[in-house]
Amino acid sequence: MSAAAATGPVVDAEYVAEIGRARRDLRALIASKSCAPIMLRLAWHDAGTYDKNTNTGGPDGSIRFPEELSHAANAGLKIAVDLLEPIKQKHPKITYADLYQLAGVVAVEVTGGPTIDFVPGRRDSSVAIEEGRLPDAKQGASHLREVFYRMGLTDKDIVALSGGHTLGKARPDRSGFDGAWTKDPLKFDNSYFIELLKGDSNGLLKLPTDKVLVEDADFRRFVELYAKDEDAFFRDYAESHKKLSELGFTPS
Ligand code: HEM
Repeated sequence: MSAAAATGPVVDAEYVAEIGRARRDLRALIASKSCAPIMLRLAWHDAGTYDKNTNTGGPDGSIRFPEELSHAANAGLKIAVDLLEPIKQKHPKITYADLYQLAGVVAVEVTGGPTIDFVPGRRDSSVAIEEGRLPDAKQGASHLREVFYRMGLTDKDIVALSGGHTLGKARPDRSGFDGAWTKDPLKFDNSYFIELLKGDSNGLLKLPTDKVLVEDADFRRFVELYAKDEDAFFRDYAESHKKLSELGFTPS
């Protein structure tokens, strides 16, 4: 084991109890600020930098550093980091890495999505990751696969996790895109897939990387499944989200 890997938090009964208390504070924060979408995006952007070949990046809290927050893909996410800071101060034992992933899990749960198993113990990185590891919304299927396969994720993970766009919206001042993917952006359900199959006619947002999910046959079979079977979506989403939240992390 490397020296760095040995510096994770000690997950004893007290740490687990603290996670339970932070979970309650997160529920209250997310409900009072209606900020579930940006919390989910924060958790995903902290984790989605993982590279399985070098075992670098991943859910390690590095997104809190101004250098990483200033990456183009992270525009707007300082809001989420700042909203979580008082919870970190109240529960200092909990690592940023755990807190951000817990916020993502709670965001999905409180908006009506599946329960996602949460295992604590992630260690915090002390450095920002370099820019360029997160997907570019203007690109196509091969780019999506390149980025998610680098993380060690699969086609099914790509489609299930893209269902995270059931929450929230894009803003011109952040990404240059505009609008929500679904009619109720604060409800976690399978409507992202239903709207995706309807095509461009409904006035809702579809990024180029959303559209490839119906254009590529291997992706499309999952879109069709999730549009007609919300239970299947919730099962696969919970599994893929847990994988994303644990990239490069071996629970003690
Ligand atoms: C928002 C791209 C995957 C969750 C956005 C935005 C873009 C984007 C451009 C708009 C940001 C803004 O203007 O504020 C992508 C691309 C993906 C991807 C290219 C590749 C597949 C995911 C995944 C999740 C996710 C895997 C979660 C599991 C979200 C959420 C928002 C969002 C919740 C809304 C944030 C808000 O309302 O503040 N995404 N995304 N995205 N993304 Fe993704």
